[in-house]
Amino acid sequence: MTSSSPPPPASAGHDPHDHADRAASFDRDADVYAQVRPTYPRDAVEWLLPAGARRVLDLAAGTGKLTEVVVGLAGAGTDVVAVDPSLPMLAELSARLPGVATRQGTAEHLPLPDASVDAVLVAQAWHWFDADAAAAEIARVLRPGGTLGVVWNDRDAEVDWVARFGEILHRGDRLEPAAGHDALTELGGRFTAVEAETFRWVDRLPSGALRTLAGTRSYLLRLPEAERETRLAEVDALEATHPDLAGRTEIELPYVTYAFRARTRGAVPPR
Ligand SMILES: C[S@@+](CC[C@H](N)C(=O)[O-])C[C@H]1O[C@@H](n2cnc3c(N)ncnc32)[C@H](O)[C@@H]1O
Repeated sequence: MTSSSPPPPASAGHDPHDHADRAASFDRDADVYAQVRPTYPRDAVEWLLPAGARRVLDLAAGTGKLTEVVVGLAGAGTDVVAVDPSLPMLAELSARLPGVATRQGTAEHLPLPDASVDAVLVAQAWHWFDADAAAAEIARVLRPGGTLGVVWNDRDAEVDWVARFGEILHRGDRLEPAAGHDALTELGGRFTAVEAETFRWVDRLPSGALRTLAGTRSYLLRLPEAERETRLAEVDALEATHPDLAGRTEIELPYVTYAFRARTRGAVPPR
């Protein structure tokens, strides 16, 4: 390429409908992800985290959105390790949570010894895993009777502007965004029956943040540059014209948090 050539679009060579490519899309703009993606409600994390857990794995930890809540709840004396395949995401996590150990790895090949943690938590990521391989690996690293907790934040599409926002983000998206919710009911014989709970809450974002939030979605990250810009302009127009958004200094974005938990089968050894 000559010095006068324009840079290739960030999405060059990427396929927005390829599952593995989408799963790897989060390397881009980890700092922006950390700023605008939602946290997880404290009561949901309390529900997921077993009492007395001393060693917790945040799997697919990303920039540490869930890790931060876990650290706040668990307090001193609990070791939290964060695993993710993306080094840029882990670097952002370390900058925000310097006391948390990080390891590069995937759900299908966990870089931890057998029976080494009391809980494995997964936020907004189970749908990127090979579910069978991940369930086997998670069962391996959990102590007998240890807890797997899986959580997703879904925007509450019962609210009109939120439904319109979701339509802009996912129009043409052939990878079903909520597919992972059902997959969890099939963990295989290694775990007890899955328990489920939902939590409703509202995230507060500064005006203009909807464009930024949209830009962190894996489908948009993998769209060709021009198409992504068209979508982002639609998001701007929604924010400028919808009666629930126009002229506001703060956006109230309602979420439904879906939480699932199960325990590995087997005796719980004394601590
Ligand atoms: C939507 S982000 C969620 C990050 C974080 N848990 C949160 O809630 O903000 C999905 C994360 O899954 C990671 N990921 C993708 N495929 C993975 C795999 N096979 N095993 C482990 N992590 C994976 C990505 O690198 C990314 O950090």
